[in-house]
Amino acid sequence: MNEKKKGSNFSGQLGFVLAAAGSAVGVGNLWRFPYLAAKDGGGLFLIIYLILVLTFGFTLLTSDIAIGRKTKKSAIYAYTEMNKKFKFLGILTFFVPVLIMTYYAVIGGWITRYAVVYFTGEAKAAAADDFFVSFITSPVAPVIYGLLFMFVTTVIIYKGVEGGIERISRWLMPVLLVMIVVIAVFSLTITHKDADGTVRTGLQGLLVYLKPDLTGLTPGRFLQILLDAMSQIFFSLSVSMGIMITYGSYVKPDVNLGKSINQIEIFDTLVAFLAGMMIIPAVFAFTGTEGMSAGPSLMFVSLPKVFQAMGTPGIFVGAVFFLMAIFATLTSCISVLEAIVANIMAIFHADRKKVTLIMGAVYLIATAVIALGYSIFYVEVKLPNGSTGQLLDIMDYISNSFMMPFISMISTILIGWIVGPKWIIDEMESTGDKFRRKYVYIVMIKYVAPIMMFILFLQSTGILGM
Ligand code: PFF
Repeated sequence: MNEKKKGSNFSGQLGFVLAAAGSAVGVGNLWRFPYLAAKDGGGLFLIIYLILVLTFGFTLLTSDIAIGRKTKKSAIYAYTEMNKKFKFLGILTFFVPVLIMTYYAVIGGWITRYAVVYFTGEAKAAAADDFFVSFITSPVAPVIYGLLFMFVTTVIIYKGVEGGIERISRWLMPVLLVMIVVIAVFSLTITHKDADGTVRTGLQGLLVYLKPDLTGLTPGRFLQILLDAMSQIFFSLSVSMGIMITYGSYVKPDVNLGKSINQIEIFDTLVAFLAGMMIIPAVFAFTGTEGMSAGPSLMFVSLPKVFQAMGTPGIFVGAVFFLMAIFATLTSCISVLEAIVANIMAIFHADRKKVTLIMGAVYLIATAVIALGYSIFYVEVKLPNGSTGQLLDIMDYISNSFMMPFISMISTILIGWIVGPKWIIDEMESTGDKFRRKYVYIVMIKYVAPIMMFILFLQSTGILGM
């Protein structure tokens, strides 16, 4: 059952790193990270994030990837192999991508729609107040774009690990990096004069982004920032959802895992940092500090207004931005479908092509249903964390806020206290390379991470009342 066919592994370290970075870099980096940085005190958030990514994020990412390579199995069987009593953890982990996949292509579809808007010269329309709402509440357009996105995802997975996932990531990730650097540099050159004569520049905006803002810093607010950074890290690194376990299972035995993990972390954090450098100075120059509290609507409502205010260059910047966002979302979306397909292939001993076709069909239907969650299937549900949401938010809440912290917490206990950190460390050193942050790993996995995940779980389920 375990022997892999040719092409069902990554070709080597670079292919693996780019594919894993492809999964990690997504809307989380482009939209959520800049939004949190603006909300949580600029440089203060950056410092906390950096410390956590090097300790906490590194621990979770290392665990997932090492479990994958050591067991050569997808999540559903990997945890059972570590300890038979933890079969439930594999099953639970299997359901995270199953839920995420229902809505990820819907968001990909929204982004595609915006890219089309900029490429077809409708940029002005996108800047109108009601453009986004009237688009997502239409019963046709979001379905078509969502289906298109899901279809492309299915085709890539159909082509396999090396021929599909690795091949596309090798192209898209470097291009994405170049695009984001270009827009970030452009953002810093902006100077804007308001109607009342106030002049603001991108460089001033950069200062807002980088300078730690300590005003009103109470212990409660500090904890909130810490939790924001933590939840962002494990969403951003795509950990605790079986994805990195699956990708880890495709890594050849001679690849240096420690080095690969560092590179994935650096890539993901760099793109998030550059996204902040691209968005915050531009939004600041055109709207001042208020514009930055836009929250979830930042990407689809505030940015198009900023692009509009830039005049002609804004059409190009908008086009590049949304194209880049397509790349980021597509490489994440394929990792979600891959985790599902890999698990199902293992359960039914079935072949990739058949499973991909069946799951592709299932998720085309699911994508259509969720895309209609703002029109025909509109519901409004109050979630335990106090927010109200539609179908998409419900799926997002169950998978990201509820299941992921729980899975993370149990898996850190499994590694730290049941099989022992040595189980992972041995895999990290199996190539004869030294596992550099070994002691950080041990302390984090045994003591710090389980407690942090427990607090995060309490917060995101609303029990902690923050
Ligand atoms: N890591 C992705 C991001 O930061 O946008 C998000 C993501 C990818 C979440 C894949 C979930 C997932 F299954």
